[in-house]
Amino acid sequence: MPHWDPTQYAVFADDRSRPFDDLLARVAAADPWTIVDLGCGTGELTATLLDRWPSAEVIGVDSSPEMLVAALPRARTSPDGGRLRFEEADLRDWVARRSELSCDVVVSNAALQWVPDHLALMPALVRVLSPGGWLAVQIPGNHDSPSHELLRELAATEPYAPYVGAAARRPPTPGPADYLEALSALGCAVDTWETTYFHVLAGRDPVWEWISGTGARPVLQALPEDLRAEFTAEYQARLRVAYPAAEHGTTLPFRRVFAVARRT
Ligand SMILES: C[S@@+](CC[C@H](N)C(=O)[O-])C[C@H]1O[C@@H](n2cnc3c(N)ncnc32)[C@H](O)[C@@H]1O
Repeated sequence: MPHWDPTQYAVFADDRSRPFDDLLARVAAADPWTIVDLGCGTGELTATLLDRWPSAEVIGVDSSPEMLVAALPRARTSPDGGRLRFEEADLRDWVARRSELSCDVVVSNAALQWVPDHLALMPALVRVLSPGGWLAVQIPGNHDSPSHELLRELAATEPYAPYVGAAARRPPTPGPADYLEALSALGCAVDTWETTYFHVLAGRDPVWEWISGTGARPVLQALPEDLRAEFTAEYQARLRVAYPAAEHGTTLPFRRVFAVARRT
């Protein structure tokens, strides 16, 4: 699990918030009491849950102390009796500790891809939902994109390969059909889909800026400092070719997978 840099992660805040909004648009909970955001990161998007449901208790859970330092100042109560708070925990432990039927909405945005074989976690996530409760998950589905293929290719060459090893070999993530099957088998009413966003980015190395804040972090952190600089320069050069800058900016197509399930 990489260390997170909240400042780098925030650079593309607008582009990153849209999938969250699209995900939550499909959650029709009327008056939830308890909402949890698993892998809440800096809590910026978690806070919008209290804006939407001001009388709810909203709990952001994350295992990264760095991200929580950014999230904690957002904790607040609302005039409608609700509150927003944060807990440091591995989301798997948090869910395992939680009693059955105790959450009305469980959200996880761009986080479960970091949990190996996270489809196996679906029974535990559904277990904590109250009857009629909602589970909303979004993960990147860009495993086969040029940015990730180039990362794996370069990481497999000398002198990087001996350091990087497993950090570059992340397995492909589930698609909509996988969520549909897993969550339907648990008796949920399921709505799954995928979207490719075409982000238009500015700056000299914007795809690098994006991916160095998320998907490339395990590889970068596995490298010793001197090799990291060399690797970065080579990776940036390859990304510039794969994602050429145009007059309107640099286009980054980004596939994302969504699953919304309602416990019946
Ligand atoms: C890409 S960020 C997404 C943050 C936030 N949900 C958002 O959409 O802006 C992924 C977050 O998941 C957290 N995370 C990854 N694995 C986790 C785990 N097993 N338990 C708790 N948090 C985890 C990371 O610490 C990081 O803050």
